[in-house]
Amino acid sequence: MRAARIDRFGAPEVVHLADVPKPQPKPDELLVRVKATTVSVADQRLRSRRVPRGVTLLAAPTIGLLRPRLHVLGMEAAGVVESVGSAVTSYAPGDEVIVMRGARMGCHADYVTVPEGGEVARKPRNRSFDEAAAVIFGGHTAVRYLDGVTIGPGSEVLVNGASGAVGTAVVQLAAARGATVTAVTSARNADLVRSLGAARVIDYEREDFAAPGTAARYDVIVECVGNAPFARVAHLIRPGGALLLVIADLPAMLAAGRQTRRSGIRVDHRGGDMGAEGMSRLAALAEAGDLRPVIDRTYELDEVVEAHRYVDTGRKRGSVVLRVG
Ligand SMILES: NC(=O)c1ccc[n+]([C@@H]2O[C@H](COP(=O)([O-])OP(=O)(O)OC[C@H]3O[C@@H](n4cnc5c(N)ncnc54)[C@H](OP(=O)(O)O)[C@@H]3O)[C@@H](O)[C@H]2O)c1
Repeated sequence: MRAARIDRFGAPEVVHLADVPKPQPKPDELLVRVKATTVSVADQRLRSRRVPRGVTLLAAPTIGLLRPRLHVLGMEAAGVVESVGSAVTSYAPGDEVIVMRGARMGCHADYVTVPEGGEVARKPRNRSFDEAAAVIFGGHTAVRYLDGVTIGPGSEVLVNGASGAVGTAVVQLAAARGATVTAVTSARNADLVRSLGAARVIDYEREDFAAPGTAARYDVIVECVGNAPFARVAHLIRPGGALLLVIADLPAMLAAGRQTRRSGIRVDHRGGDMGAEGMSRLAALAEAGDLRPVIDRTYELDEVVEAHRYVDTGRKRGSVVLRVG
């Protein structure tokens, strides 16, 4: 089968199309023909080995240290079940599904496998494969982190980095729960985040949302950029509130427990688990329109290097879809 492969770390040009063996499903697995996936920040990180400060050794068992451990990137996919293992009972060939392989990657290829009880769910019926693929990476992250907080009408939520794959999903899901969302983004993305449900927009190029003396207070801050650690934003969070660190370096991870105990603010750098149940909820949110896909650009598999180049700009809005099937 075709796959986008890396044999060394580096710039987008290290990615190349190759013929690799088609995976064989184990008895409890589905073999899925990939129709669409995305090139995400995770792919960029695994390709370039550019990880948050202090995390290189921690990530080595997954990413590799001198050479990539994973040769085919791609965390997630939307596709069609091609065949099922002998023990599979709830899926059949022809079923349309969404799959999250997470750190095992492998979705930038014609086929992937996933355990029946793993992170797989039926594709939202009213979404194309491109659209379904576009909600998985950000939606999965947003659901996992927002599951850890109680928000609803009257809650104030600030999303730092509201225009990325994760931010666009968090804005939508927080607004769908009734929270008042403040989105931190650049002026060029203000209309986008408003259309997703943000009530207020702060242009980070003109205003420091965390400036000392700022009167605004939030129940939850969701940090998706890497420049809003506890020390910078704790004074903005109400007692009993939460700082959700979608992106955290090693010092921030190590300090989170202590900060939580001392401040009464929940500092979470992990998010919760998803599983098959979470994937079904994610699909239902997409089908109901609470989580709409934000597709910036779409590339064919043989344009994968271009897709990586675009993700490397750091300016993508929502998802960059990679069409495989
Ligand atoms: N913990 C987890 O499980 C997990 C899961 C997924 C992702 N992540 C991490 O979360 C981070 C975000 O991921 P993503 O997929 O959302 O990234 P992304 O889609 O690449 O984010 C790109 C967006 O970031 C915005 N941005 C850049 N600098 C900004 C700033 N200073 N302030 C506000 N917005 C800014 C850009 O908007 P402008 O062009 O307007 O600047 C752009 O739209 C990544 O570091 C990723 O590694 C963690």
